[in-house]
Amino acid sequence: MAGNGKGNAGALVDLKRGVVSRELFVNDEIYAQEQERIFARSWLFVGHESQIPRPGDYFVSCMGEESVILARDQQRRVHVFLNTCRHRGMKVCRYDEGNTAVFTCPYHGWSYATDGRLVGVPLFKECYQEQLDKAEWGLVEVPQWVNYKGTIWANWDATAPPFLDTLGGMKVYLDTVLDGRDGREGGSEVLGGVQKWIMPSNWKFAAENFAGDAYHNISHRSVDLVGIGPSGSQRRDTAERATAQRLGASFPELGHGATSFLQLEDVPYASSYQDTPVVEEYFRHCDEERRRRLGKGARLLGLVGNVFPNMAYLARQPRSIAVWHPRGALKTEAWRWFLVDADAPAEVKDILRRYFLRYSGPAGMTEQDDMENWNYATLASKGVIARRYPYNYQMGLGQEYGTYDSPGVLTDRIAEQNQRGFYQRWAACMEEASR
Ligand code: FES
Ligand SMILES: [Fe+2]
Repeated sequence: MAGNGKGNAGALVDLKRGVVSRELFVNDEIYAQEQERIFARSWLFVGHESQIPRPGDYFVSCMGEESVILARDQQRRVHVFLNTCRHRGMKVCRYDEGNTAVFTCPYHGWSYATDGRLVGVPLFKECYQEQLDKAEWGLVEVPQWVNYKGTIWANWDATAPPFLDTLGGMKVYLDTVLDGRDGREGGSEVLGGVQKWIMPSNWKFAAENFAGDAYHNISHRSVDLVGIGPSGSQRRDTAERATAQRLGASFPELGHGATSFLQLEDVPYASSYQDTPVVEEYFRHCDEERRRRLGKGARLLGLVGNVFPNMAYLARQPRSIAVWHPRGALKTEAWRWFLVDADAPAEVKDILRRYFLRYSGPAGMTEQDDMENWNYATLASKGVIARRYPYNYQMGLGQEYGTYDSPGVLTDRIAEQNQRGFYQRWAACMEEASR
């Protein structure tokens, strides 16, 4: 890796010292290598099954820089296709989502069925003398995909280990966003559309923040002072946190990181929705059911996390999934999905929708704070002088310890172990010889 002559990934990421080179955030060559070594080989979140319930439904998503189509064919099978025509590369689908019988390329009109087969070639007889082997020229499809509790993940590497192996112990924390509020497995649906916006910063700023930056609360000081909580007043987050113990979990071999809360024993339900009795009643009921179903496991309350490389979640406040799509060393396209239990009452969904919008996305008061930091950090890091000075990840270095019965390298303190774990995996991916 050239990286302005700085040597390989190991030299850029020095976790013994707790420093990471700024080149990771500004260098075009490193960015290009990430596409091959990380995004072409990792399990990436593509979308949610509730976005394509009927035959012919599709949702256009991204895997790294690649545009892909998440589609349900006429036999109700799910596919993830590369969104590019086999003839001359035109995007075969330029819409965000919809329902179709075929994907017809706008350039010369080749058309593909929702199972990817090339089914229509204009002037097939006159110009191709029926010689083109259509079976050979269908849409390119990912070799591996999986539906995990309603979320669809895909991987371009046919030899990559199965999704659940790659998720490892992080499963427990990811489940805190994907499982029902009453403790049932899965059962979520996407509420409304997907929010999409561009940030002039490197994708890793967002990923490492969600992996476990529990230190940046000062950024959200203004929003902590105003009432944007779930009920429309009170603090921005849910009340249960006040009686819980912080729990950071890192998976350095896998790159994932989660910050959660462990509820103290025998703490009664802490209401966050007093202003709206129907919603209050619903969540109180969910809490009772969850404790009944999960027993001691109900003490684990998810907060945030990042599944390596670029899928992040907010587990409870508000409940959502984000993907940080790389768009250049200095540019990221952020997408955010909002999740609710599919069978929640309409009034609950409506309250949560408003809460999501106050909190998250390009107009959300909390998300704006984060973006501003990443954007200015990028600007202040790309100069030839600034690049010489690495970022500091020394908080809690050498002090990791685990005291709870929960997976991962644990800490109950505010520390940067999760960020170090993320960069340990990043460096391992970047150092792997091309396979
Ligand atoms: S590029 Fe699609 S038909 Fe020619
Ligand atoms: Fe934040």
